[in-house]
Amino acid sequence: MKTNISVVRELLRKDPVLAKKMVHPFVAQKKSMYVDRLLHPATTAELGLIYFRLTPLCNLRCVMCGQRGDKGVLKGSFAAGEAKKIVPLEDYKRLVDQIKHKKPVVYLWGGEPFLYPDLFPLIDYMMEAGLVVSVNTNGTFLEKYAKEIVERKWHALFVSLDGFEETNDRIRGSGSYRRVVDGFEAINREKARQGSHYPYMGVVTTVNNLNYKDLYALAEATRPFKLAWHIYNLGTYANDAIVARQREFMKRELDTDIACLPGYATGYNEDIDGQELYDILSRIHAMDIDHPIITVPALEPDKIDIYYSKLEEPVRTHCSVPWSQCNIDYNGDVCFCADYNDYPLGNIRETPFFEIFNGERARKFRLALKNSKDGIFPGCIRCYQNMLCGRRVKGF
Ligand SMILES: C[S@@+](CC[C@H](N)C(=O)[O-])C[C@H]1O[C@@H](n2cnc3c(N)ncnc32)[C@H](O)[C@@H]1O
Ligand code: SF4
Ligand code: SF4
Repeated sequence: MKTNISVVRELLRKDPVLAKKMVHPFVAQKKSMYVDRLLHPATTAELGLIYFRLTPLCNLRCVMCGQRGDKGVLKGSFAAGEAKKIVPLEDYKRLVDQIKHKKPVVYLWGGEPFLYPDLFPLIDYMMEAGLVVSVNTNGTFLEKYAKEIVERKWHALFVSLDGFEETNDRIRGSGSYRRVVDGFEAINREKARQGSHYPYMGVVTTVNNLNYKDLYALAEATRPFKLAWHIYNLGTYANDAIVARQREFMKRELDTDIACLPGYATGYNEDIDGQELYDILSRIHAMDIDHPIITVPALEPDKIDIYYSKLEEPVRTHCSVPWSQCNIDYNGDVCFCADYNDYPLGNIRETPFFEIFNGERARKFRLALKNSKDGIFPGCIRCYQNMLCGRRVKGF
């Protein structure tokens, strides 16, 4: 399997200036893992990557979505109520001023980030501050805003597609596949018209039991999209037993109730035939296509089966996320964990960022994590961030 390194290599060849900036979070994460985490485990001097979950709102309702899917909590009137709490542009600008000297890479997501009302001025401000900005989107607004996106030279778009047309629409809603394809075409037209190679565009596919048999057809269909990468996320998930263990653990160690993790116990990662998925991914890797294929986690092929059949078995350990990353939630809460944001550290509307990032709650969380078995909590077992930033278990 190719790893994330293949993207860095490609980028170094095509765009060394941007590649240099992208190397920073990688180095920060490695340093935080092997230096900060060990030498001064409670605090950190690194900030390589910062996620912004800009809004709880979304125009789609994908079945496996941990926020808005079958088990998600951010739906209906609850999401509408939460949307009243979104951080105003001015507060985000103040945050950018506080963090820009660390030059973190920014990853904007949601909900659907295009539903944050000041998305364009916010990205303008971040880019003027010298930050690399990437946006994770469901792609349904790309056609509408293609001209502005290319004019502003956004660095990267991560666009979600979960299968070839019918499969994708079964998961993401009727007509969503076509809207994404129209979006790619519109961006590529604008890039050609404006003579720009920004934004780099990649597809993110969340593997589940509704789509894994169809992944080759999707890979074939992406040929005309002019992609810079295609990421196959093997899935962020838990089950009821893991949720129960996490609930008990978080209460005991950090006096926290959990609400987010249960949204990821969807059942959509059960009954995946690991050998069949491996065969499909192998065929995709063997295809004659320009862009790198990345599997997260980049597992040894014969271990894919274990990822799905033995949920108790860690494949990555010693999460280093809290020593170099964090997520800013739509209401301004800072959490280390982007998907399972059950432990807020403080709020950027009330407290300067670095007071939060190395504050009392942050220090407590880092120490609890460092002192846990294998450097992870029970709920971390298939967390996406740990799949990217954790320590590879021997053989996996
Ligand atoms: C929550 S969405 C937010 C951004 C945007 N709305 C989108 O769909 O791209 C971020 C990413 O998480 C993925 N995702 C949703 N549910 C997931 C799950 N249970 N496990 C792993 N990834 C998931 C989505 O497919 C998407 O690529
Ligand atoms: S588009 Fe993104 S946020 Fe919206 S429901 Fe789908 S995965 Fe969730
Ligand atoms: S592995 Fe655990 S601690 Fe680390 S980011 Fe994921 S949920 Fe948070």
